[in-house]
Amino acid sequence: MVETIEWTSAGVIMIDQTKLPRQTEFVTCRTYEEVAEAIRSMIIRGAPAIGVAAAMGVALGMQQADVEFEKICTVLAATRPTAVNLFWGIERMKRKYAALAGQPHAAVAAALKAEAMLVREEDIEICRAIGRHGAALVPDGRTVLTHCNAGALATAGYGTALGVIRAAVESGKRIDVFADETRPFLQGARLTAWELQQDGIATTLITDNMAGHFMKAGRIGCVVVGADRIAANGDVANKIGTYSVAVLAKENGIPFYVAAPISTLDLTLATGDQIPIEERSAREVTEVFGVPVAPDGVAVQNPAFDVTPNRYVTGIITERGVARAPYTDSLRVL
Ligand code: MRU
Repeated sequence: MVETIEWTSAGVIMIDQTKLPRQTEFVTCRTYEEVAEAIRSMIIRGAPAIGVAAAMGVALGMQQADVEFEKICTVLAATRPTAVNLFWGIERMKRKYAALAGQPHAAVAAALKAEAMLVREEDIEICRAIGRHGAALVPDGRTVLTHCNAGALATAGYGTALGVIRAAVESGKRIDVFADETRPFLQGARLTAWELQQDGIATTLITDNMAGHFMKAGRIGCVVVGADRIAANGDVANKIGTYSVAVLAKENGIPFYVAAPISTLDLTLATGDQIPIEERSAREVTEVFGVPVAPDGVAVQNPAFDVTPNRYVTGIITERGVARAPYTDSLRVL
């Protein structure tokens, strides 16, 4: 399994997810500003991976001379608005920092570095636990459809939705995967297809608009996706196009599962209507890898996420178990 992000003596190293699968390149961030830019430009992406990167960014900033802790946190928090794991990672580091009050700078910097490394290690363990809880839900001998990339690349390792798929395969289930290509950033085509291919898990790549066709034809046994933020009532923000997949799944009587760590829950928001949705550059829509495909000057919208109402969600698979409706109760208990 590929290393998404690592702390080294040279800095924070990330695999460059904008280059995969054609080039396997690594980026070394030596300052917290470089970590912030890596998150913004999606060198690293996926909610849990962004949370780990934010924690490492804070720790890295504290290794730099004359940088204010609050400034580091503010810059990192301004990178991407939707995945709540970003803010969760920063908040965790703030709590640690507060607990270290009065200690010499070198001791604080060392403790924050250790905390960031712990966040990374825990994330891998959390994904494995999500996998264990979710594996039982995957029907044997069937095809799992997934959207975007909620895999090892989107976490510190193993993945959430792809963690469920990996665990199902490891438990002996004979399953294969349909991966939506996930326009416009193509996380499904570039990252999910690549990741699963590396693991030898049979994967078929489809364009997003093919999902309904295969569901109606009886080809899909269940859907498993990740999440960027889950409101208290179980509404789920995830990659744009997830809502369409969920509606199609319900229409076709196919279970629709969301796999996410507890750190993706935002119980401060009553419903998904309050989740901020990132709007990204129009060029992601008008161009394909730098080649214009639309007429100059056309109006464009590019929301990076949508919100799936809880009524379409069969279950939310977390490291602490599977939440079912009514989510306002079950998520709070978890
Ligand atoms: O814009 P991205 O690539 O960061 O969006 C990623 C997703 O929407 C994932 O499905 C989500 O973060 C879950 S990752 C385990």
